[in-house]
Amino acid sequence: MKLIDGRRISKEIMGEVKAGVGKLNARDIHPLLATVLVGENPASVLYVEMKSKTCVEAGIKSKNHHLPFDVSEEELLDLINRLNNNPAVHGILVQLPLPEGIDVNRVFRAINPGKDVDGLSPVNLGNLMLGDESMVSCTPKGIIRMLEYEGVKLEGVEVVVVSHSILIGKPLTLLLLNRNSTVTVCHVHTRDLAEHTRRAEVLIAAAGVPHLIKKDMVTEDAVVVDVGTNRVDGKLVGDVDFEAVKDRASLITPVPGGVGPMTIAMLLENTVSAAERLGSK
Ligand code: GUN
Repeated sequence: MKLIDGRRISKEIMGEVKAGVGKLNARDIHPLLATVLVGENPASVLYVEMKSKTCVEAGIKSKNHHLPFDVSEEELLDLINRLNNNPAVHGILVQLPLPEGIDVNRVFRAINPGKDVDGLSPVNLGNLMLGDESMVSCTPKGIIRMLEYEGVKLEGVEVVVVSHSILIGKPLTLLLLNRNSTVTVCHVHTRDLAEHTRRAEVLIAAAGVPHLIKKDMVTEDAVVVDVGTNRVDGKLVGDVDFEAVKDRASLITPVPGGVGPMTIAMLLENTVSAAERLGSK
């Protein structure tokens, strides 16, 4: 078994991001990521803080717009419109989940696709389906990047994704299809999960269920990617029963220190490419 060290890989990417920022600064372009946080969901507050902190480390400016949980959809759309029209803003990230009553699809439809560093606007999701990966959702992009970094073959390979969410499962499936993997998508309604996961040469678990993936659900020498970030008794645990599965897997990501740092690195990379393409100050 070998660990896939997301922290190390993301550090390398951060170095490249910093170099990209330096080149933009030399052209008097100063990449700025605008984050939008609605309400006080503790995990979201923490994620947005981490994103801002990492931006600053990479030389990217970051401004958070914190709105109350009872903000109206119109006020939120009005903020997005102002960010769209502000040439100093290169990336817009609306942290999910949004409070009930706000139409998420309407919000993501409103974001200028050129500034949609989350890759969640219909234009960018459509582009991904067409094989254009110029703005791809950060966690799926980070997963593919770490697999490619480790030299994991994807073409013709049986990949099982346990998630059909818009943040992970759906974009990840498209990225894998673009690389000619044979993809099985499982989710909460799948009848016999183990029957599918046992076939996986690459297994990606993002169901949000602590220790869902047990040893008998993993084939010998599988590559296992754990996207779970579950809080159990104040501890961060993945969707994979790591201790039991680790000796069966050829490569496995830890939690924490696996996919998490890759997500933020991809967000910064997307912000730099948005700034390059927009070319605004
Ligand atoms: N909430 C959890 N993950 C994400 C993400 O990747 N993007 C956004 N916008 N919200 C999230």
